[in-house]
Amino acid sequence: MCGIVALIGSREAAPQLLEGLRQLEYRGYDSAGIATIDAAGLHCLRAEGKLVNLTVRFEAQGAPGHCGIGHTRWATHGKPEERNAHPHLDGSGELAVVQNGIIENHRSLREELQATGVMFRSDTDTEVIPHLLARQLQLLQQGGRVASGSLLLQAVQEVLPLLQGAYALAVVWAQAPGALVVARRAAPLLIGLGEGEFLCASDTPALAGFTRTILPMEDGEVALLTPLGIELYDAAGERVQRTPSLLSGTEHVADKRSFRHFMLKEIHEQPETAALWVARHLPELGNQAGSQAGGSAPSSPMVALPLDDALFEGVERIQLLACGTSRHAAQVGAYLLEQLAGIPTDVFYASEFRYAPPPLGPHTLTIGVTQSGETADTLAALAMEQARRRLVADPAYAPRLLGITNRPESSLGRLVDQVLDIGAGIEVGVAATKTFLGQLLAFYGLALAFAERRGGSVNGRGPEQLRALVAQLRSLPGLLRQLVDDHDQRCEALAHRFAETQDVIFLGRGINYPIALEGALKLKEISYIHAEGYPAGEMKHGPIALLDAQVPVVSIAVPGTVFEKVLSNAQEAKARDAQLIGVAPEGPDTDIFDVLLPVPAVDELLSPLLTVIPMQLLSYHIAAHRGLDVDQPRNLAKSVTVE
Ligand code: F6R
Repeated sequence: MCGIVALIGSREAAPQLLEGLRQLEYRGYDSAGIATIDAAGLHCLRAEGKLVNLTVRFEAQGAPGHCGIGHTRWATHGKPEERNAHPHLDGSGELAVVQNGIIENHRSLREELQATGVMFRSDTDTEVIPHLLARQLQLLQQGGRVASGSLLLQAVQEVLPLLQGAYALAVVWAQAPGALVVARRAAPLLIGLGEGEFLCASDTPALAGFTRTILPMEDGEVALLTPLGIELYDAAGERVQRTPSLLSGTEHVADKRSFRHFMLKEIHEQPETAALWVARHLPELGNQAGSQAGGSAPSSPMVALPLDDALFEGVERIQLLACGTSRHAAQVGAYLLEQLAGIPTDVFYASEFRYAPPPLGPHTLTIGVTQSGETADTLAALAMEQARRRLVADPAYAPRLLGITNRPESSLGRLVDQVLDIGAGIEVGVAATKTFLGQLLAFYGLALAFAERRGGSVNGRGPEQLRALVAQLRSLPGLLRQLVDDHDQRCEALAHRFAETQDVIFLGRGINYPIALEGALKLKEISYIHAEGYPAGEMKHGPIALLDAQVPVVSIAVPGTVFEKVLSNAQEAKARDAQLIGVAPEGPDTDIFDVLLPVPAVDELLSPLLTVIPMQLLSYHIAAHRGLDVDQPRNLAKSVTVE
């Protein structure tokens, strides 16, 4: 939430800062700003709205200097107006700060500063920081210290303990034009190392074309950057030496190719996401010949996951912590872990878990599911679980934490014991699509691995049935390719019917209930149409009162345990004049639907991997048809780094 960039080196900073912000705009886009420093002083430009407004301002006014900071905002404290846009300055206008996070004690700090005569210009929590820094610098200079990068560093180190909350920040000061100070606590920040220049950013896309060599900052660290090098300090003020790492592959390149929106491109990338996952995690069929039932893990497992055996041993219960779309993936995951592997599994809203955790149980695996790896609620819930388990002496209660993420280098990766990388490649569209599929696949892998290690499965599915599931999973990329191409056209043709629609109901049951929730969430977030997902059997207990001819009902009906039940529930909706859209295989049973979005008949357990595709494409085309900003819907951001 919010993106920050900061550059120091020998090139003009502003164009690189703007390019970095463009890559980070998915993190927030209600206002943006930059501040640069040159011999003449500090130059600050800010603009309400999308980044393009700031770019226009830069083209008209310029912002010279080889050192600068930038910010793209998702409003927390203060409306999205220019005066609340970052950077925020001190009273003299010589010192500028950008911040991503929330300063929780900003009110008391503001009152304290105001009592000494400080005037505030914004409603933000961030503005206390430049004023506190200015006060500290003044004190240090009164004590005889001369303005320099080291002095700025010292002031930041002395002010940070006053701040409560999670933040990443960058500071420049006109009196030390060759210095940039950055710091982080519980919000992401990494330093990209170029040739005699450094680019700091909230996320890797901002480094595209600049460098692949990165130094992710750890919690509590502060760095002084000059064109000559980096001085890195831990929270105790001790100098830290760490080896930089290398970004792999093309993961930090965001390119729309010929698609109209990133979201559409990312929906079309899902067959590739699945193909990569199959290639990585489902060993060739020939290798499975020795696979046997009977208690211990076979020598050639059906599913190869890069996880230590210890993670699987003796697990009696699993708890899944996630938010939004990731939570829907977790709900499918819970179904699989219970029905395939027989392990009791609970799914929690991460934001609720932290404040009302269930009683501790032994031998529990806790899995954080977050595509960004930076969702503050999920990280905080995991950290709380880790902390409370560490207080228990009995080793049966020791924390066992796994992360499922698209960003193994994220804060999540540093918090948990092991990570399952979904490897979906960068996702720019704010609405999660291919990362959702990647999360689902991670759960299929995990549930199958648990089931296999336990010598087969529950609910009548033995090793043979597990192998049959794996064989069907192998054919997934081909099925997805056809489905995406087919439904892209069908859903585009259908979208005009929703021009006046105000409410849509999504129905599913069993393993497809979370897909109904996901369909509703996708529609809400990008088309601003009110939508609800329900377990189809619940309709008659109240929500059916909403139905009339103006309310379309999208019903997921796939052959299996609840097929006939879902069809009956759909009939009940039809009897109330609702327009029925079916996501179901073609056949005589499904001719009750007014419109059919056909999906291939696969094992019911695998069906969410397919039924989600029409959901995504329907939402996409309805929003695109309405002319909405699909990739950057209002009020949202790609990674939610505030609680
Ligand atoms: C919806 C969406 C959000 C995220 C949620 C959690 O399309 O993307 O609901 O799923 O904010 O984000 P992550 O997965 O990064 O923890």
